[in-house]
Amino acid sequence: MKIFLDTAEVEEIRQGVAMGVVDGVTTNPTLAARAGRKFKDVVLEIVEICSGPVSAETVGLNADQIVHEGRILAKWAPNIIVKVPLMAEGLKAVKQLASEGIKTNVTLVFSTNQALLAAKAGATFVSPFLGRLDDIGQDGMQMVRETVEVFQTYGFETEVLAASIRHPLHVTQAALAGADIATMPFKVLQQMIKHPLTDRGIDSFLEDWKKVPDAETVFE
Ligand code: G3P
Repeated sequence: MKIFLDTAEVEEIRQGVAMGVVDGVTTNPTLAARAGRKFKDVVLEIVEICSGPVSAETVGLNADQIVHEGRILAKWAPNIIVKVPLMAEGLKAVKQLASEGIKTNVTLVFSTNQALLAAKAGATFVSPFLGRLDDIGQDGMQMVRETVEVFQTYGFETEVLAASIRHPLHVTQAALAGADIATMPFKVLQQMIKHPLTDRGIDSFLEDWKKVPDAETVFE
């Protein structure tokens, strides 16, 4: 499963990519606002740091405007993915962008039927928002499982990008559900690394290492 960072903070992306485990980046208007910088500047920096897919979102509400924005975003760099919200005009735009060879990520997906429609329109990625469904007492992961199954059954090439991930267990569950990608805040990636037994093990190994006769010189 691929791991994407869900952030517009360039420093977080730099750190994640340096770890060797980040395959792509997703942004959205909220994350862009939080970064507090010009959106184009941020995206151009991100695509320099990360050679994988980088999602940048359109804000138009009709197909012509979404296609217009998508064409502009796609020209910024070859690895930019045009993020389009799930709505009738969005599906129309995805179809058009796909016919021009522009890759899309259909976002704000909250049902398996919405995911199916995005795939039929020709989306490259579909983003089920599982955390936000959990927030309202529905099982977000069930939607991911169903979407993976439907795409496999019908041979859709659209990749399932599990989004709105809130904690490490979501990542494990998304992997078990067969999601192609999980996009997560940098904090969740850091939480995935940590285990108290790992930390304790490192401490005790380092303590014991001091008792080895050539500990000081062996790596010289
Ligand atoms: O990129 C969109 C998505 O991951 C948002 O997550 O936590 O705002 O529901 P969240």
